[in-house]
Amino acid sequence: MAEPLLAARGLNKQFRSGNQPVSVLSDLALQLGRGESLALTGRSGSGKSTLLNILCGLEQPDSGRIRVLDEIFDSGKPAGSSQVEARWAQLRRQQVGVVFQEANLMPALSLLDNVRLRARLAGRSEDPCRDWLERLGIGELAGRYPDQVSGGQRQRAALAMVFAMNPALILADEPTGSLDRHTAEAVTRQLFELQARHCCALILATHDAELATRCTHHLDLGHQPEA
Ligand SMILES: Nc1ncnc2c1ncn2[C@@H]1O[C@H](COP(=O)(O)OP(=O)(O)OP(=O)(O)O)[C@@H](O)[C@H]1O
Ligand SMILES: [Mg+2]
Repeated sequence: MAEPLLAARGLNKQFRSGNQPVSVLSDLALQLGRGESLALTGRSGSGKSTLLNILCGLEQPDSGRIRVLDEIFDSGKPAGSSQVEARWAQLRRQQVGVVFQEANLMPALSLLDNVRLRARLAGRSEDPCRDWLERLGIGELAGRYPDQVSGGQRQRAALAMVFAMNPALILADEPTGSLDRHTAEAVTRQLFELQARHCCALILATHDAELATRCTHHLDLGHQPEA
């Protein structure tokens, strides 16, 4: 069997609530190959966003090991060092596209320029950038600034940025959470089409049970073993 694109094992993460440690992830393992998708479900607060943040290096697990492509991050090695952060940043620039619950666009750039910048940083062509905005139904807003569009439109622009970088792995945190049903369906179709065309791996945090059934794998964080 080909090596999975992403493999994680023994992931543990606790936060503190007052003096009490609260276990969010407990000995979690997952792996995902090219062309595969994983739906992350679970009640609010079950750790979906925390796991996505850990899988793109924006948060450190307390322990565990993550391999993305050829890069290995082992919590046994010094974590949080600038060298480790630089390796994660390089992955996020070129190989790991992240769509957060709150779209994070550069406020001083138009939607189109945000997408172009993302493509440029990933070393990709800027030519299809306008097309991505069109396909996500916001082509006519290309020249507007992030604060001149709605939350759902910003979220779609953030998805266009990920599409423009053509990553090997997409991590999407409720990417259709602020969209109406019709728009959510159109955006979801684009997401799965892109994934199939480029044979990338996709992890999707969602509260939408129907959307979860469209993924090849399903992990319910509500059913994680207790610490
Ligand atoms: N920086 C932090 N400090 C303390 N607790 C935190 C921190 N970040 C997250 N938590 C807690 O960890 C738990 C998991 O949070 P997380 O955001 O991963 O949940 P989620 O499954 O994404 O929820 P939602 O469906 O509401 O987005 C929650 O109880 C949250 O309050
Ligand atoms: Mg969340």
